Parts: sequence; structure tokens; C-alpha cells
Amino acid sequence: MMADQVRVALLGVGTIGRELLRLTRRNPVYKYVALADTSGAITRNEGFTDAQLAEIIKLKESGGHLREVLGGHVLHDDMRSVLGQCPFDALVDATATQTYDLIHEALDHGHVVTANKIPLADVDYQKFKGLISKARERSRVLDYGTTAGAGMRIPDLIDGMGANGIDRLTGCLSGTMSYVSQRLNAGASLSSAIREAMEPPRSYTEPDPRVDLEGLDFARKLVILARACGRDVGLETVEIEGLVPDHLKGVPLERFLENLADLDSATGTRFEAAEAEGKVSWYVGTADLVNDKYTIGFEDFPAGDPIASSKESDNVLKLYPTGWGRPVTVIGPGAGPTETAAGLIRGLKAVSDAL
Ligand SMILES: NC(=O)c1ccc[n+]([C@@H]2O[C@H](COP(=O)([O-])OP(=O)(O)OC[C@H]3O[C@@H](n4cnc5c(N)ncnc54)[C@H](OP(=O)(O)O)[C@@H]3O)[C@@H](O)[C@H]2O)c1
Repeated sequence: MMADQVRVALLGVGTIGRELLRLTRRNPVYKYVALADTSGAITRNEGFTDAQLAEIIKLKESGGHLREVLGGHVLHDDMRSVLGQCPFDALVDATATQTYDLIHEALDHGHVVTANKIPLADVDYQKFKGLISKARERSRVLDYGTTAGAGMRIPDLIDGMGANGIDRLTGCLSGTMSYVSQRLNAGASLSSAIREAMEPPRSYTEPDPRVDLEGLDFARKLVILARACGRDVGLETVEIEGLVPDHLKGVPLERFLENLADLDSATGTRFEAAEAEGKVSWYVGTADLVNDKYTIGFEDFPAGDPIASSKESDNVLKLYPTGWGRPVTVIGPGAGPTETAAGLIRGLKAVSDAL
């Protein structure tokens, strides 16, 4: 069955939330009934009009807050206070904050579609399983395909190809580190590769590139994928080769950027050594699901390996389904507003199919 209309509560109207609104606001299938940001939540049981959504997108783009939106909506302190008061079919989580309790409770009221990794990765495995079980018991969709690979929806690939198990996953799930790996293998220094990744037109890095260089966001994706394979892992299980020296870890961003060249010694002669052996050295995450070992850092691959054909901020992942003779490689844009919103729209389609 496919419903004629899906009532959507959107949590987070940042880059991704706004792109989702832009791509869906004229589609009569989607009726936005609640929107939330850090200032609170606004609801409208009859649905926001296209003109209101256009005004909200403009306001949020200019740094405004939902509390400032005028019109016949109802104002709530936060999204949680909306649950149970404003009926919705799908709650979309496009925030980057710990929403575990909120989405756990939301499953009492409707389905959940999330791009936010934190409620799935920054909780222990039992809590993760608790969320999955609750969705199953209530026959709710809990769609988290977009949390790894954005529109490439890597968790779906695991679901599809892993019927017999998955032995290993290895690849680069960080757009920044993918670009940095390409440039390092072409002879650039780490500091110049980071600067290029930071600056327009690329702007691949987080505002503070240490977030990318310390591997936490990458580790979250690896944990979600390993958990999707049924493994009891957490962020603490992942051994991360961080690239930020201790003396630059806690300092203000400006000072970190002034001293970026201090990072260059961390990569040593690794790339020259790899090249001499006909190899490349790539910053990858590996989940060795047979030996329960999870790592993020530089690994060597033959120069012709598909991993080395990544362009710009591509994500790449090699999946080794149990018993398959060769791995499956997926490669392509694994981040970006349109790509991520497309992944969320696929999740909303799953909700529509379930109604
Ligand atoms: N960017 C990508 O390519 C990509 C790809 C895959 C997944 N994701 C994930 O998608 C999510 C959104 O990313 P983004 O780039 O859109 O982030 P963003 O621009 O920082 O937007 C985050 C939004 O969440 C809101 N928010 C934060 N804490 C909140 C709270 N406690 N209650 C209600 N709203 C809250 C913010 O409110 P304010 O507007 O008031 O600050 C903002 O509207 C993140 O989890 C990210 O990891 C992103």
C-alpha cells in the first residue's frame, strides 16, 4: 500500500533539512506539520503552505530561527514537546545532536527517518538494538540508510548483500579524507591537502577540520555499518589513527590553522615507500568482521585498486559478502545536500509504503 500523503515532522532545518524542504515542498505527497531547530518547534496540523516553507528556508539560510516565524502556527519549546500533540507519520532527524531518547519516543507515534548518526553510534550496542527492536515490535520504519554514504545508502547494500553474512568492509567514508588521500598520493603535503579541501569551491571539511582528521564522524559510520551486520561494537572499539598532534588538539581553530604545517611529519615517508612498491596509501576504515577488528587509518593498496580511482570527495567501500568470490565496490558522492536529501526521500518513500 502506498499512502496518498505523508505527514512529516522535520527535526533540524540546517543544510540538509532545507534541501529536503526544497526538493519536496511542492510534492503533494509530503505535508510538513512540524519543524524544529535549536530555538524550538513550530507545528501546523493542516500543514505549512509552500509560501510559508519558502519563507522559512529563506529565514534559516540567513541564520534566523524558527521562533521568529510569524503566522498561525503553534510554538513549542522543543521537538520532544511536540510528540503526542501534533500527529505525524514520519519524523525526519536532520540534526547533529544526541536524539536517541527523542526518536525512541517518536516510534510510539510514527515512523523515523534519520540522517543523524549520533543516536545510532554514540549509544551502547544494547541501546542500538533496543531501538531496532522497538521499531520492529511496533511495525515502524526506522530508516537509517542515509547515515553512511548519504544517497548511496550503504546500510541498504549490507541489508541486500549480507543475507549470508559479510566478512569485511573497507573503504573511505569521509569526503575530506578521500580528497586528502588523493592529494597525498599525488605528492602534496598533508597541510596543503587540508587547505585545498577546506577552501571554496570544495569546502569539504567540517568548519573545524580536526573533526575530520580525528576520525570521529568516520568511526560513527563504521560502527553503524558493523552494527547493521549484527556486531556488538561501539566507538571505543575502533582504533583510530588520528592525524592531529597532541599540542594542537585543544587549541582555538585559528591557532590550529596557523600551525597546520606541524601535521606534515605525521605522514612521514609513507607515500614514497608505497609508490616504490607500486602501491597507494589511503585513509580507510576497515571492519574485519571475521576477527572483530575495527580500524581507521592509512592502509596500502595496489595502485590499480578501485579505492584509488576516487575523485574529489567520493566515498568508496569494498564489501566482502561471505562466500562471494570477489568484493563488491561502491564508489561515488557520499555527502552533499542533494545527495543526502535524496537518501532521506527514499526513507520517506519507505514510510509511505508502510502506511
Ligand atoms: N552534510 C552532509 O553531506 C551529510 C551527509 C550525511 C548525513 N549528514 C547528517 O545530516 C545531519 C544534518 O547535517 P547538516 O549539514 O544539515 O547540519 P547543520 O547544517 O548543522 O543543521 C543542523 C540542524 O539541526 C538543528 N539542531 C541542532 N540541535 C538541535 C536540537 N537539540 N533540537 C532541534 N534542532 C536542533 C540546528 O538548529 P539551528 O538551525 O537552530 O542551529 C540545524 O537546523 C547531521 O547529523 C549530519 O551528520 C550530513
